[in-house]
Amino acid sequence: MPTFSTRFSSFPAYPLAHIPARKRALLEAGVDVIDLGAGDADLAPPPAAVAALQRAAEQPALQRYGFGLGHVPFREAITAWMHTRFGQRFDPMTEVVPLLGSKEGLAHVAFAFVGPGDVGIIPEPAYQAYLGGTLLSDATPYIYALRPRTNFLVDVDEIPDEVMRRARVLYLNYPNNPTGAIAPLDYLQRVVQVCHERDILLVYDNAYSEMGFDGYVPPSIFEIDGARDIAIEFHSLSKTYNMTGWRCAWAVAKPEIAGALAKVKSFTDTGQYMGIQAAGVAALASWADFVPTNVAIFQQRRDAAVAAFRANGFSATTPQATMYLWMPLPSGIASKDFADRLREEAGVIVLPGSGFGEGGEGFFRISFIQSPERIAQAARRAGDVLRTMTAERDGASALIGAP
Ligand SMILES: Cc1ncc(COP(=O)(O)O)c(C=O)c1O
Repeated sequence: MPTFSTRFSSFPAYPLAHIPARKRALLEAGVDVIDLGAGDADLAPPPAAVAALQRAAEQPALQRYGFGLGHVPFREAITAWMHTRFGQRFDPMTEVVPLLGSKEGLAHVAFAFVGPGDVGIIPEPAYQAYLGGTLLSDATPYIYALRPRTNFLVDVDEIPDEVMRRARVLYLNYPNNPTGAIAPLDYLQRVVQVCHERDILLVYDNAYSEMGFDGYVPPSIFEIDGARDIAIEFHSLSKTYNMTGWRCAWAVAKPEIAGALAKVKSFTDTGQYMGIQAAGVAALASWADFVPTNVAIFQQRRDAAVAAFRANGFSATTPQATMYLWMPLPSGIASKDFADRLREEAGVIVLPGSGFGEGGEGFFRISFIQSPERIAQAARRAGDVLRTMTAERDGASALIGAP
């Protein structure tokens, strides 16, 4: 057996990789599984996108390599949308990078900006691509624990000076997966200012920009003065249009930054299928018809989830954005134990906080990916498991305390 590289050997296991196989085994055993795990809704993509893909499949020119350039109308649709939605103008040819889903771009961008001796600042809990990109670049991750104390914001003024001096990249994601937190504009201004002072690339993951509730409209980082100099922002069709499997996303940044990501990608992929990019044009054009109605469905599910989990003994804060509820567990109940038992004993899939890095311990996440009725059913089963585990914990500590 050839030996693994040192870098590969230092890699942690991808925390949630085993769940699809367990789900399949439970379904095969006849269990009524309620999956509230991955952020992967049971809802349909815009019909216009599906029709555009069908048409694209018949067009010979779209069946060839897209290369980094891709389908030019997709670049143009992206810049038109960024202008309509955020009032920000970008050049379609030099400031847009089409991606095969935003995950690969979030990981690949690190290759261009960090290396051995450099630090990448990574919030935890967080989407694991940030850590992956940093480790694959042989840089050192500095983990910042997101806790209620800072409203789940990375307080850049708390990070030690010696870390900030070596930091080349800061990953931020608001609206945030998994905590549901949002970032106030004055907070973003401070972050941009600090990134300027320290010459740090701000990687702003805006995958949930279209999933605000109760009238909240998430901003682009480029609405903050000065962000153009130091930021790259990532967007995706995945959550906004229920198109997770299509792998269609983009990054925007000034030409030097966008060009660096495009250059890395020119060595690792040959572009998304142009038929999917053509469907992306149709999805973006359907924003006004599709997105508000889709978000209303998620808001209804959010309300159902908050009510049902509270009624079953959980403490749930109503998120203003994203498709997630991030709930604390009572002390002494490890999130992995809870998630494992809930899945194996009650057929409900949730994600343990520790699956998003150690900083996520003490919490678990559910996604609004099923109907309000199924979410309520899952909450009842979760309440039963929590009561059993709490009683076991109390029984064990009573025994320890016994004379
Ligand atoms: C915060 C965050 N960023 C990025 C992604 C990746 O999305 P995509 O499907 O575009 O790769 C996800 C997916 O769950 C996410 O939660």
